[in-house]
Amino acid sequence: MSRSYSSISYLAAFFMLVCCTRIEALERADLNERVEEILSAMTLDEKVGQLNQYDVGESDLKKAIAEGKVGSVLNAVGAALTDELQRIAVERSPHHIPILFAFDVIHGLRTIFPIPLGLASTWDPESIETMARISAEEAGESGVRMTFSPMVDVARDPRWGRIAEGSGEDKTLGSIMARAYVRGYQGVDLSAPTSIAACVKHYVGYGAAEGGRDYNTVDMSEGRLREIYLPPFKAAVDSGAVAVMSAFNTLNGVPASANDHTLRDILKGEWKFPGLVISDMYSIRELMPHGVATDAKDAARKALLAGVDIDMASGVYLDHAAALVRGGVISLSMIDDAVRRILRVKFQLGLFERPYVGDERDANKSLTAEKRASTRAIAQKSIVLLRNEGSLLPLSKSVGPIAVIGPLADSKPVMLGNWLGKGNADEAVSVIEGIRSKGRDIVLFNKGGDILNDAIDGIDSAVEVARKANVVIMVLGENVDMSGEAASRANLNLPGQQEKLLEAVVATGKPVVLVLMSGRPLSIAWASTHVPAILEAWFPGSEGGNAIADIIFGDSNPSARLPVSIPRSAEQVPIYYDHLSTGRPTGANTRYQTGYLDLEISPLYPFGYGLSYSDFEYRDLHAEVLLSGDDKVKVSVDVTNISQHAGDEVVQLYIREPASTIARPVIQLKDFKRIRLNPGETRNAIFDLNFNQLRALQPDMSFVVNPGIYRVGVGSNSAKLLEAPFEISPSGAIAREK
Ligand code: NOJ
Repeated sequence: MSRSYSSISYLAAFFMLVCCTRIEALERADLNERVEEILSAMTLDEKVGQLNQYDVGESDLKKAIAEGKVGSVLNAVGAALTDELQRIAVERSPHHIPILFAFDVIHGLRTIFPIPLGLASTWDPESIETMARISAEEAGESGVRMTFSPMVDVARDPRWGRIAEGSGEDKTLGSIMARAYVRGYQGVDLSAPTSIAACVKHYVGYGAAEGGRDYNTVDMSEGRLREIYLPPFKAAVDSGAVAVMSAFNTLNGVPASANDHTLRDILKGEWKFPGLVISDMYSIRELMPHGVATDAKDAARKALLAGVDIDMASGVYLDHAAALVRGGVISLSMIDDAVRRILRVKFQLGLFERPYVGDERDANKSLTAEKRASTRAIAQKSIVLLRNEGSLLPLSKSVGPIAVIGPLADSKPVMLGNWLGKGNADEAVSVIEGIRSKGRDIVLFNKGGDILNDAIDGIDSAVEVARKANVVIMVLGENVDMSGEAASRANLNLPGQQEKLLEAVVATGKPVVLVLMSGRPLSIAWASTHVPAILEAWFPGSEGGNAIADIIFGDSNPSARLPVSIPRSAEQVPIYYDHLSTGRPTGANTRYQTGYLDLEISPLYPFGYGLSYSDFEYRDLHAEVLLSGDDKVKVSVDVTNISQHAGDEVVQLYIREPASTIARPVIQLKDFKRIRLNPGETRNAIFDLNFNQLRALQPDMSFVVNPGIYRVGVGSNSAKLLEAPFEISPSGAIAREK
């Protein structure tokens, strides 16, 4: 075959392919050769068109597609729309290159699952994978073949509203979850119509915004970047994620979309990432207000040089990239490299072979019972039991009159959280609906006021209702728009008059179960000593109300664990469990130690914490270093369910490292396992830690295994660990490094 197709001969070849067994044909063809064939036939302007991602709202969208000025489109959802736009690209644009449709499918498209912070609370990668698989099927059926997910930003400041969108404060949990998202979205075969490309975001450091203010400055050492913030991205990329999104923030003064160190040196260089880099929305244009680009052309130049392949929505590549090449400022090979990456992904997705969805597969139908069951089961695993004094929970179904009080109790939209895709709030189950569906008892309801209403007039009537009940379930927290993008908060209190409402109801003396819904950890210091039962349900998805009721009435035994520390108040943040020790750690009998004069230093609830209706006991912890064959540390512990309830325990494994040139965290999570235990049952949990998991940062930014005495800690949360030592001898460490 000639390598220089004319448009017509390419079209003929394309239709030939469509007619024969398409996937097999693609498998036989060498992908790179196909890419080169198209590339060699494209003009510079057509190449630049591939680098341009248009928002579906652009007024000249169809014309621009026909002229080959659009390579991908964001926010177009639904087979009818995507097929219509695709037809223009495939039939009328110069090289008939299909469009890639991308959308924020974050925790479901039509079937909505718990928000990512809730998903992370499951400590169950299988749940994440299931969520991502269902999301991918629904997205594929709607013409969307790329999602701007997972968000893998490590977040240690709950004032930052986007903490809701990620897996919390820890790099290991974050990396394990990142892999599960990618596996679920991309499936085993990316070309299947029900697989979608994962775009990992926001590269990099976005979660460390100063003051927790969104879009704000990030300044951190290279060491911290490599130790904490990069690993979840690396995990996603190593799992085959085909795209990475460059963030809004500056990192050490350089905006992420102009950062050739993070993009070219690390991502495309060290990691040899073969996929696409997409800018966050308008972030290339925003190089101007950042103060690093003089005008739009300069912004395009900086982003291209840094290695951003696709310009999301700012249009500056479309306007200036060709001129930059013609003026000799940007090399053609740089543009070619970006186009190659884009075409490769389009081939991998099977878009050339199967550009259309076809109306019959459009997903605009109601939730199926099967998908409802799936999101309900995952929501059950995402709800964290924070307190349960006197075993108030689970409630007996014949407890008598129940009062349900609070501004979120009858809200359906709050169940879905933000980034609700095409989720329909009318199809969501509210908390009051979930509770009513359980039973025979009288359920009294009182809103007690609105979240943002400062008036306290709802409180008296709520108290009256509480007095008529045997038990009160209070549903408090945040509105959905109080977390997510551009939703930072300066304090972490229950907004509005909710704390007063809570105190007034507790003062009735009735037993109170507090159900929190929020996109971030809330500081609930008063509740943590005055309210006997507390559940953090985050925003739990389409079946959230049922899942909450399942937990309250004991149809499901809580098993979620915190993926973030809950601070006593916003004054403690940033707060995270794997901090360094300082030369003057807390605990010594002296004033001269790290801490505050007027606030404890420990969190209200530590990372990894979460109660169950079961009680678990840990015994016989052993750690053994095995240096033959695959070097590893074998850790073994017995876990017994000493209660009357079957339940899941999340067995968590942490490491304390020996002295090193660079100070090491007090402890660091390395692995975990979810195990199911019947009453009285003991299971032996075994972990094989490979030496890579022990590598520590060195001054030259490499990672090596330090010799010395380690301590392994295994237990049910980061503050409750059984510990045992093991030693890595200098020769063992060196053997591994070879
Ligand atoms: C901006 C957000 O930062 C990003 O997370 C999102 O994917 C894009 N907008 C596209 O909607």
